[in-house]
Parts: sequence; structure tokens; C-alpha cells
Amino acid sequence: MRNIVILISGGGSNMAAIVRAAQQEQWERKWHARVALVLSNKADAGGLQWAHEHGIATQVLDHKAYPSREAFDAALADAVAAYDQPNWPALVVLAGFMRILTPGFVQRFEGRLLNIHPSLLPAFAGLHTHQRAIDAGCRFAGATVHGVTAELDHGPIWEQAVVPVLPHDTAQTLAARVLTQEHIIYPRAVRRWLEQA
Ligand code: GAR
Repeated sequence: MRNIVILISGGGSNMAAIVRAAQQEQWERKWHARVALVLSNKADAGGLQWAHEHGIATQVLDHKAYPSREAFDAALADAVAAYDQPNWPALVVLAGFMRILTPGFVQRFEGRLLNIHPSLLPAFAGLHTHQRAIDAGCRFAGATVHGVTAELDHGPIWEQAVVPVLPHDTAQTLAARVLTQEHIIYPRAVRRWLEQA
């Protein structure tokens, strides 16, 4: 069985979209894959409750309880590695996980570490992507699912979705439009990853 570990920091709507797709598309039967753990660095992340209600194991690792980024990432790596199965290393899915990972963590999980970023990469890596797209006068914005490499918000692109930027958009209205597309492309990217694994 391939365990999927989803890391979140907030509402977890992308996580929920992946869980729903896994159920509806029977990932367990097709690819022996299941969402086994939802882990958050924040105890009050809304997605934890949703995951619990859907029968998925949850875990909190509060980054503030660790003396350094390296120490937190070492604990995170151990938590994820507990879900490795012989010949079936866990797939790690970052879904609104608002922590920058250390090169050591990324190196250890590279090739099985996916992220979603709310912009059309390579444009607007980093934070405040929607406001930056509006300020730049972009006519289009979007989201990208990519493999994680040591360079922040770079790495091989798996999926992208494009939405228009409308004349009176705020960062909030644009974010909402992008998010609906994220819920389509993230499950699709994970499915494609499982197909080629
Ligand atoms: C999503 O829009 C995701 O692209 C973004 O956070 C949101 C999480 O929403 N991720 C980043 O900004 C990562 N740098 P969700 O918790 O409802 O899935």
C-alpha cells in the first residue's frame, strides 16, 4: 500500500479535494494508494477536523516547539517516514503548508514531494501572489502543482490552471477563483504521480 501524507497549515480545502478524488476514483483499488495521514504545523488548522471526521489519522507538529528549522524538519521527516512501506515510500503532498522546508528535508523526499502554489510559476514565487498579479496588471493568473526541489517554488511542473483576472478583482476574489481550479488540478497531479510511480 502506498501511503499519501498530506501536510497542511490551514483550511485544507486542497487536502479535502484530494481525499474526495481518492474515494470517488478508487485510488486504493487502482493504485494501492490511500491518504493515510494529515499533518499540520498548526493545532488550529481547520483541515484537521475535516480529516478526522473522514476517518483519516491526524497529527500536529508545532514548529514553535522546536529550537530550529532543522530540528522541526527532522521531526517532520520522522513523522512522514513512519508511513513508508517496504518498496512503497510515502508520497508527501504539501497542501497549503506554509513552512519553508530545509534542503535536507527536500533532498530526502525529492521525487515524492509535491506542492501547490497559487500562481503561474515561474511567475510570482513566494507570498502574496494574487495581489502581486493584480499589481502587475496581469490579465491571467492561476495555480501550479510542481515537484519540490531545493529552490523555493521551483521544480518540475506537473499541472497548471489559468483563470482570468477581472477588472475589479481584489486579492480575495482572485484567490477564490484560483482555488476552485486548485481543487481540480491537485487531485489530477497526484493521480498522475501515482500512475507513473
Ligand atoms: C492554497 O491557495 C494554496 O495554493 C496556497 O495556500 C492555499 C491553501 O488553501 N499555498 C501557498 O500559498 C503555498 N506557498 P487550502 O488550505 O484551503 O488548501
